[in-house]
Amino acid sequence: EKAGFDHFMLKEIFEQPEAIENSMRGRALPNEGQVRLGGIREHIDRLRNAKRIIICACGTSWHSGLVGEYLIEEYARIPVEVEYASEFRYRHPILSKDDVVIAISQSGETADTLAAIREAKAKGALVLGICNVVGSSIARETDCGIYTHAGPEIGVASTKAFTAQVTVLVLLALALSQKRTLSDEQTKDIIQDLYQLPKKVQEILNLNEEIFEMAKVFKDARNFLYLGRGFNFPVALEGALKLKEISYIHAEGYPAAEMKHGPIALIDENMPVVFIANKDSSYQKIISNIEEVRSRKGRVIVIASEGDNDIDKLAEFVIHIPDAMMPLMPLLTVIPLQLLAYHIAVLRGCDVDQPRNLAKSVTVE
Ligand code: M6R
Repeated sequence: EKAGFDHFMLKEIFEQPEAIENSMRGRALPNEGQVRLGGIREHIDRLRNAKRIIICACGTSWHSGLVGEYLIEEYARIPVEVEYASEFRYRHPILSKDDVVIAISQSGETADTLAAIREAKAKGALVLGICNVVGSSIARETDCGIYTHAGPEIGVASTKAFTAQVTVLVLLALALSQKRTLSDEQTKDIIQDLYQLPKKVQEILNLNEEIFEMAKVFKDARNFLYLGRGFNFPVALEGALKLKEISYIHAEGYPAAEMKHGPIALIDENMPVVFIANKDSSYQKIISNIEEVRSRKGRVIVIASEGDNDIDKLAEFVIHIPDAMMPLMPLLTVIPLQLLAYHIAVLRGCDVDQPRNLAKSVTVE
């Protein structure tokens, strides 16, 4: 059942090229420059005319929600807020029928997310679900929805569900932009880049041995910092969550520029700092952040662009990965971080598929 892999988590990490492909199959039409999402067709006008979109989720699904915020604002120019479902539901949120609430959940059974949906519906908002489990409570209770086609996810640490959610959020952002903020030509370019991703994810998976070697060096660290900017900021949060939940190493994710507002005080020779530093508009800024860590003797690990060898001299370890257009980068940059967390946890003897104190779906409030 683990198809030759030692753990479900590793199997599911390796299933990501397929999960991404399945989540866009038949929906993103590269020749037409259009997106077709059957599950939201009836509500598309109301969705495109939303005054505000609020995304509610927990854990990893909340991180994909943050990527969704950046995607929808970038492409569709509709204001988006991302809320922890647990906070949203208990604080009398201000909602009207012009608002759209998007609930994201792998299991479709998370109690707080379900409660947020009920609150939103009661206040007249249109509720859209993005779920992986077909027929789950959240899928049933939402007004419309889009399934992620990641296939069953068994490992408690969410991996392929995250990349499938982000894929669906790209498609949703494009659907909301159609006939409004993006031309068919622009949509076509994005879809064509999206189609390259499964192959690029596979190339990153081929770096597994390299990442394993790196994991051996850092497995005894007590703390980790993950830093990224823009679309890679939610990935920094996700990298930190993966590490803490399966290896029990304390880890924090931050927007790189926030480091100097506090976390920089933590940096010494025992602190590994993982930077996501692909070539984009904020590249020079992140290089300065790397210098700041180096000058305090922090141990620098970098996820960098293929061919960017200048960065090698600034870091103890560099993982070079292929580039894509910036809004699609989270689908690539998250992969090495999943593998790093996995190998560190295995090397420490942890039960990666069933970490202590955690359940696959959190059905208590
Ligand atoms: O099933 P859901 O997506 O609603 O679950 C939300 C979180 O409980 C979940 O993502 C959790 O944070 C994972 N263990 C993260 O790997």
